Amino acid sequence: AVSVYEDQFVASKAVAGRIAEIIKNKQRNGETTVLGLATGATPVNVYKELIRLHKEEGLSFKDVVTFNLDEYFPMKPDAEQSYVTFMNEKLFNHIDIDPKNINIPDGTLNEEDVARYCMEYEAKINSYGGLDYQILGIGRTGHIGFNEPGSAPNSGTRMVTLNDLTRRDASKDFGGKENVPTKAITMGVGTIFKAREIVLMAWNEKKASIVKKAVEGEISSDVPATYLQLSSNVEFVLDTEAASQLT
Ligand code: F6R
Repeated sequence: AVSVYEDQFVASKAVAGRIAEIIKNKQRNGETTVLGLATGATPVNVYKELIRLHKEEGLSFKDVVTFNLDEYFPMKPDAEQSYVTFMNEKLFNHIDIDPKNINIPDGTLNEEDVARYCMEYEAKINSYGGLDYQILGIGRTGHIGFNEPGSAPNSGTRMVTLNDLTRRDASKDFGGKENVPTKAITMGVGTIFKAREIVLMAWNEKKASIVKKAVEGEISSDVPATYLQLSSNVEFVLDTEAASQLT
């Protein structure tokens, strides 16, 4: 399904509202909510609204478990550009989540330990019964998480090589493309697909052409986001600019 909102603020409120609804429904049954989270510019206003719901409306994250999609590799958690720092600043520091319930791929591993770590990350998601809700942005390469062109639909959590355009888009944060890590650990397309509800958000004109491909283009590993067309649990949440090339 595709939902187009007048702007990203209205859209983000709708997404945050749905997340709050899931959390509260689960809480009523004494159940844990398992959220798949993304970094980057796209979800920032969803996190702002979740913080507001926590501070002003009593939404509690005490029984919420989170798994982030990805992390650069190598990356120290306390580095300015780490996704650990991002999530702490944009969300976790401002809500009542138990730090033990936060999971973000580890950018500090020895390379030979990565494969086993990734299997364990996957197993840990499954041990909670899988993801209830997965937030996605979309990169200009068509990546979801860091599943770059060429990623298989059944791919699992793994180490990947970042596309040149992805590194260029991140260069601002690192003071030059040459400083952007060449690798990352990401949940796979298959991992994402197992979520019971998936929302891909995109804002602004610069996402319009990749959104058109993702929503209407031929399903192909050239644009991994096209795989989302195969699932009925996916909602594309767009602002008018990102939706402007849809027919
Ligand atoms: C981030 C992630 C990426 C981003 C995508 C869009 O955790 O997995 O797929 O969602 O690169 O980034 P922004 O939102 O900065 O345009």
